[in-house]
Parts: sequence; C-alpha cells; structure tokens
Amino acid sequence: MKFTATFATFTAFVAAAAAAGVPEPLAAQQSCNAGGVYCGTSLLNKGNYHDHIVQVLTAAGQPTDEAHINNSLFDCLSGGEIRFITFCGNGCGGTTTTNPDFCL
Ligand SMILES: *[C@@H]1O[C@H](CO)[C@@H](O)[C@H](O)[C@H]1NC(C)=O
Repeated sequence: MKFTATFATFTAFVAAAAAAGVPEPLAAQQSCNAGGVYCGTSLLNKGNYHDHIVQVLTAAGQPTDEAHINNSLFDCLSGGEIRFITFCGNGCGGTTTTNPDFCL
C-alpha cells in the first residue's frame, strides 16, 4: 500500500490548491475529491470515513460488516459526501493509485 506516497500527493495538492486560492473547507478532514470513485479501503486511508461509510451502507440497505466497509464502491460528491454504488464481491482494485477505484 502506497499510503505515504498517496498522502504526500494529497498534501501537495492541498498546498497547491491553497496557494491558488481554491476553497478547501474539508481539507483538514482529508475528504475525497468530488467526482472521484473510491472503495471503502481508499476512503479509510484518506480520513476518518468509517462512521460515514457505515451510515451510507445502512441507508442503502447493505450489510455493514468489514467486507462491505472495505470493498464497497462509492461516488464522492461535493463536500466529501459519499454515495453507495455497489459492493465489490471480489474486492477492489486501484486503491493504491490516484485513479478511480474499481471492482475486481
Ligand atoms: C478490511 O481492511 C482492514 C484494513 O486494511 C483489514 O485489516 C481487514 O482485514 C479487512 N477486512 C476484510 C473483511 O476485508
């Protein structure tokens, strides 16, 4: 897992955004980037998303076991909000890159 590199990239991005005067209301929370697609694993690596993932899974009528928390795919909406897309029964790919995650 390239968490350190991903975090460094994220930090650099936030610094660049701040320098450019782009608002970053949720930067301290390390939210996902709107328009991105993330597996639970990636969201957990990014920030404190555990409780939010459980909420969204519950609202979508999904189980909230560890497999569903790690391996469900979410759309990232504005403000760091997430929306359940689907559960990846075979696990997630792309979680160690900055590209969108996907079901294996
Ligand atoms: C979920 O992810 C955590 C952290 O990577 C890991 O420790 C745990 O074994 C995973 N659980 C499942 C069911 O995939």
